[in-house]
Amino acid sequence: MSTYIVLLGPPGVGKGTQAKTLAEQTGLVHVSSGDLFRENFKNQTELGKLAKSYMDKGELVPDDVTVAMIKDRLARPDCKAGAILDGFPRTPAQAEALHKMLAGFKGDVDLVPFINADPKVLIERICGRWTCKANGHIYHEKFNPPKVAGKCDIDGSELYQREDDKVETVTNRIKVYIEQTSPLIDYYRAQNKLVEIDGTQPIEKVTGALLSVTRKVAR
Ligand code: AP5
Ligand code: MG
Repeated sequence: MSTYIVLLGPPGVGKGTQAKTLAEQTGLVHVSSGDLFRENFKNQTELGKLAKSYMDKGELVPDDVTVAMIKDRLARPDCKAGAILDGFPRTPAQAEALHKMLAGFKGDVDLVPFINADPKVLIERICGRWTCKANGHIYHEKFNPPKVAGKCDIDGSELYQREDDKVETVTNRIKVYIEQTSPLIDYYRAQNKLVEIDGTQPIEKVTGALLSVTRKVAR
């Protein structure tokens, strides 16, 4: 049986940070739609160029291309035991598509930890974020600084700030989240899959809360 965990929460709440630790602890693969789009853009694929035109405005990439990209990723052999999904699904249509696609892999969404924090906290986190170029490891200049400024502790690669992290774009990303993604809170609550996690706690506390709920569904 495969295990699929969906990390739900607004931009900047810590989905990527937590997904990386959860993946290490559970052995499940971290699948981030945002990272996949960024990787495609780095490789200058048509999908990457299309996605970038939406990401730069803080808008969602259309459902059809997003769903196809995730389906392709989850079908790869390393996802056989399941995955930790970060940033997908982001609309009710994507959630329905995920349910159908997982049925094809003889699975379903097992758990939806919903990490939450207020917009003020989110903006402070996003504006201080630095990401590593090689593998997307995530830092924060105040809350989780690298040992050497500008360099990743894990692989030594250069750190950069995301282009969609300008205040105007972040504000739109939060608006789009409220309008298009937040209906998923009730959608998964109605299926008894939602577990609320206080995202304002320090990183290690959020990890602890997540591990205690995910251990019930994953090793
Ligand atoms: P995506 O890359 O998914 O961005 P996002 O959802 O806006 O979320 P972020 O990556 O900004 O935040 P996060 O929650 O991962 O936080 P992080 O761990 O980095 O999507 C980007 C774009 O791609 C979208 O706008 C859209 O255009 C497109 N897209 C992606 N998926 C799509 C989909 N399914 N459909 C359509 N379009 C899609 O943490 C943030 C910062 O806070 C870091 O600096 C971190 O160190 C720090 N931090 C984390 N936790 C804590 C804590 N507890 N205390 C203090 N600091 C913390
Ligand atoms: Mg992220």
